[in-house]
Amino acid sequence: MLTTKSKSDTLDHVATASIPELKALLDSNDTHLEHELQVRAKTLAELQFGRRIYLRGLIEISNVCRNDCYYCGIRSGNERVTRYRLTADEVMSACERGYEIGFRTFVLQGGEDPYWRGERLVSLVRNIRTSYPECAITLSLGEMEYAEYEALFHAGANRYLLRHETYDKEHYESLHPSTMAQEHRLQALRDLKQIGYQVGTGVMIGSPGQTTAHLAQDLDFIHRLQPAMIGVGPFIPHEDTPLGTYPAGSLSMTLRFLALCRLLNPRALIPATTAVATLHPEGRLAAIRSGCNVVMPNLSPLNHRADYALYNNKVYSGSEAAEGVALLQAQLDTIGYQIDWGRGDAPAS
Ligand code: 5AD
Repeated sequence: MLTTKSKSDTLDHVATASIPELKALLDSNDTHLEHELQVRAKTLAELQFGRRIYLRGLIEISNVCRNDCYYCGIRSGNERVTRYRLTADEVMSACERGYEIGFRTFVLQGGEDPYWRGERLVSLVRNIRTSYPECAITLSLGEMEYAEYEALFHAGANRYLLRHETYDKEHYESLHPSTMAQEHRLQALRDLKQIGYQVGTGVMIGSPGQTTAHLAQDLDFIHRLQPAMIGVGPFIPHEDTPLGTYPAGSLSMTLRFLALCRLLNPRALIPATTAVATLHPEGRLAAIRSGCNVVMPNLSPLNHRADYALYNNKVYSGSEAAEGVALLQAQLDTIGYQIDWGRGDAPAS
């Protein structure tokens, strides 16, 4: 057992902390230590980025998915989903609307849909690149092969988000069907890095079967990967999935994990995710107070937003929506933060 004193010392050298030390910080029920962790993470984020939050316009291009992840509402086995695919024109008008609002990063996110792959996807990316030369294009479309990632990069994509979900192989296998291999996911992350993408990875907090020993390993994995972006949110059950009766992840563990992500990865771009905003009304601001520096408002066409439900009660209006940035700014005002309308690339190391 680490004492409070030794845990506090651990905070002084978190970047070199061992996996058991990280686990002890996650396990601690010392509220003073938890507060200290958050204060240090926020201070570090402010040192890197100021009291500023980067925005990304999130366009959910398809809720069709070939995968059947046990936690996810848009899994292929869920027959209760109203499936949709945006057309290229719909994506382009979402970008146009986003650009007018002021967004300079577009995130194309979706299930692993065979429709939005190959040459069709490459030409969409090329089209966005040509129309918005100064904007960043982020993709979040799951696992592909090297050549496809490379073609998309050459077409103009800059960043790629692909959460590893959990570094523990057995745990990974308990969350995914046997058609999915953790090694393929990890290889995809290595490929993306090698091609030159700014890469994001991350986990759900509190997914069924997860322990703090797993999370400590995840922190270590993320630290070694040195991603430009880290996406972390609580697991939230979706009623039409095999894991739909499990409880949601806790806000406190999510904030602790986020704070440790910041302390271990000072320059990373870390969003206060929609899942944390869904879990708790103060979740987003609490995440920013724990070292997050990005928000990704929803820019999808309004008529499809409700159908992109990865989990129950997902919020997609108000300050969560691209139309709600004024509301978001008002929330940020309460903690002395402001929106940064820049592209928000990863700072050079
Ligand atoms: N709760 C929280 N996050 C989820 N995701 C998928 N399903 C859920 C859920 N039930 C997350 C996964 C995935 C990302 C797109 O959404 O981490 O990588």
